[in-house]
Amino acid sequence: MTYYIGIDLGTSAMKIVLTDAYGTIFNTVTKEYPLSFPNPNWCEQSPRDWITALVDGTNELLNGFDASKIAGIGCAGQMHGLVVLDDVDNVIRPAILWNDGRTFKEVDYLNNIIGKNNLLKWTGNVAFAGFTAPKLIWLKNNEPSNFSKIAKVMLPKDYVNYTLTGVFSSDYSDASGTLLLDVANKQWSKEMLTICNITEEQMPTLYESYAPIGKVLPNIAKLLGIPNSVTVCAGAGDNAAAAVGAGIVDGECNISIGTSGTVFISSKTFSVDNNNALHSFAHADGKYHLMGCMLSAASCNKWLMENVFQTSDYKAEQELISYDDLGENKVYFLPYLMGERSPINDTNARGTFIGITLDTKRSDLTQAVLEGIAFAIRDIVEVARSLGIKITTSKICGGGAKSKLLKQIISNVLNVNLEENNLEQGPSIGASILAMIACGEYDSVKTACNKLTSVTTTVKPNAKLVEKYEIRYKQFKHIYPALKETFTKLI
Ligand code: XUL
Repeated sequence: MTYYIGIDLGTSAMKIVLTDAYGTIFNTVTKEYPLSFPNPNWCEQSPRDWITALVDGTNELLNGFDASKIAGIGCAGQMHGLVVLDDVDNVIRPAILWNDGRTFKEVDYLNNIIGKNNLLKWTGNVAFAGFTAPKLIWLKNNEPSNFSKIAKVMLPKDYVNYTLTGVFSSDYSDASGTLLLDVANKQWSKEMLTICNITEEQMPTLYESYAPIGKVLPNIAKLLGIPNSVTVCAGAGDNAAAAVGAGIVDGECNISIGTSGTVFISSKTFSVDNNNALHSFAHADGKYHLMGCMLSAASCNKWLMENVFQTSDYKAEQELISYDDLGENKVYFLPYLMGERSPINDTNARGTFIGITLDTKRSDLTQAVLEGIAFAIRDIVEVARSLGIKITTSKICGGGAKSKLLKQIISNVLNVNLEENNLEQGPSIGASILAMIACGEYDSVKTACNKLTSVTTTVKPNAKLVEKYEIRYKQFKHIYPALKETFTKLI
């Protein structure tokens, strides 16, 4: 028996799984860490907290297991975060995360002065506030002394891999979200590095996600309680890793409802969305994907439950909503609690309830939030459909997808069959599969997916509900355009 460790460096916690080469999960540990919001719309985290979570979490994970049987580690991580190290490998400042909206001026400069056409030519993407390149320009303009200390620029999971192996690496899927990668040609864009005043020496060496990058260093191996013969693979951005875990290759679609909500459409070939709403990124299988990302998905429900209703019993709140209530709600919710990325690309947008009357019930608000998430996912799916991509079936994963009610709503709002897999869901299992490939258990992501994943349940849309939600979605579509200008005045 050989074990693999899959790590998901998430936004609110690190999840670590212990699995075998068949995807059987023997143990799972989740270690939470804080976020900080130093200004409205800013979102930061301490990379040191990730390493504490890694060390404590791995020790807890392996308690009672024979660690000498571990062959490989794969790490998936929250994308786009800027981690900067000085020339003695100290972290210079807290990481600026994917949902941080501070870079609206830099995004405007990149999209309108440098120009979207140039960005598309060099990287296959336009600028969004969460991407890494605008953060580097922000740092240069606002914290010049920190900027001048930069020896290494890396993404969150690359910092974990660097700590594990001492190898300064990244993979193509995660590097795609920096806006510094020429995604089509899988190399750093010289033009973008020049615009950001960064040299290639400050950037990591690039690998395919399933490539081995090195072995665990003796000092950290000792801290983790594992042998230093363990192979570490390059890993992937969390959405690409989740797609691997869901078995998504060659044209298949995955919807992930985590802190963010994403629609991930895999593809054998590289293509660009001319609407500039979907990202053109590399997939962890060596090929490509298009992806749209809403910044606040399950986090909207978490906010309503925990901050507003002050409850942790999400299930009880959702049980107040019956199947007959679906498609009947008069209350709408815009889920833009951290601004929004796809498709509207607006850092000023805010969460909004609309349509409340004296007879509005607590459960109507819960339902509106779940429906708001589904409508925003539909906004992304509609962009894909406008490109001629047919989406009639999708996999669904992520913490938010544990809710049967939310799955029913999404299935009917999109008119799509939603399938769930036999494997544990999410980026950590995908990361462990990448480690299995790096260790030679499987020869490709496709082979591993074919061998390991199968569909267990399908949520199907109901024709009557699809019709009702079509009307609701059309009404939802009026709300943001009517408020767009107002949002700019609320800042
Ligand atoms: C994707 C994105 C988010 C984060 C969440 O572009 O920004 O899904 O990766 O961790």
